[in-house]
Amino acid sequence: MKKISLFKSYVSMRSILEVCVVLLKSNYGKAYLSEGPQVKAFEEEFAKKFGFEHASAVNSGSSALDLAYELIGISSGDEVVMPVLTHPASGLPVVHRKAKVVFADIEEDLNVSVEDVRRKITSQTKALVFVHFGGNNRGLKEMLELAREKGLPLIEDAAQAVGSEFWGKADFTCVSLQAIKTLTSGDGGFLVCKDEEMHKKAKRLRWFGYDRELKQKLGDTDITEPGFKYHMSDITAAIGRGNLRALDWLVAHRKKIGAVYMRHGISAPIWFAYTLSPKRAELIEFMKSHGVHTGDYHYRNDKYSIFGGRQALPVMDRLESQYLLLPLHHGVSVGDVERICALLKQFNESK
Ligand SMILES: Cc1ncc(COP(=O)(O)O)c(C=O)c1O
Repeated sequence: MKKISLFKSYVSMRSILEVCVVLLKSNYGKAYLSEGPQVKAFEEEFAKKFGFEHASAVNSGSSALDLAYELIGISSGDEVVMPVLTHPASGLPVVHRKAKVVFADIEEDLNVSVEDVRRKITSQTKALVFVHFGGNNRGLKEMLELAREKGLPLIEDAAQAVGSEFWGKADFTCVSLQAIKTLTSGDGGFLVCKDEEMHKKAKRLRWFGYDRELKQKLGDTDITEPGFKYHMSDITAAIGRGNLRALDWLVAHRKKIGAVYMRHGISAPIWFAYTLSPKRAELIEFMKSHGVHTGDYHYRNDKYSIFGGRQALPVMDRLESQYLLLPLHHGVSVGDVERICALLKQFNESK
């Protein structure tokens, strides 16, 4: 019985070779292990691939999010509205800044309820966050309009969105290149700022606050804004560059098997497929007994006391025990998806 994992990392042969070159060259003083030409090339290739003016490479999607909040200037007493179903990294930088995360409910497709975001906006609101859950972009257009109407900056948590059709449209777009993402560099990320000045500031803040564009000796460079150590290394960039070359193939495969899920009535954005089941715990065990790994990863974030405790969010309340993520990656074939869907049917008919 073929075992099918829920997620699987992809490392192209090109990535392996590029990393070896960086490591070997560095031994002879001819390459950087930290940030160097590989990072610059990766930034240019990434921006070109997705039609961005520019992109700042960072060491994780979490760092990209942290920088976005820093650039907006979120501080004590501010409120930031975001969907309740996401990764804790979407909201933790808000808590670090002694500001408040305000959770909005979701809709049936697990993405944010834009209507609820609108209801949750107050005079304290300083930013809105859209999360592409599983790569789903439903609601982004409406969130862009809402942010414009209210004069608020919009952060797109696009950690799971690379390869989808519609993303990277907000003032700040945060990408994750973490190990199991469609495009990975092991760990890593990108921050894309619409505004040129914000982009330049992001580049300073990701490396302590030094302005490397000045091309000065470090000892002569002043630090006028406190930055972070969020830059990407050339080793990471080498992995990412190799994998970027394979992205079209990876995305085409995901779309092909996603189409099979959808033929069976199962939602399949780019990063994972998902279904709803009132008997989720039993279904997980049933699938496991047939070698298929499924799960309920990514939880409602108001379960974490750091965010202030559980709230009444009717759709999330109803779906929280039901949503189930299904495998959708390069290691899954069309035949695998047919088998997964047949198993789901068998389970549902037996209940
Ligand atoms: C929606 C979302 N936001 C943020 C992150 C954090 O990204 P990273 O792990 O690269 O820090 C993730 C990671 O899975 C995520 O899924």
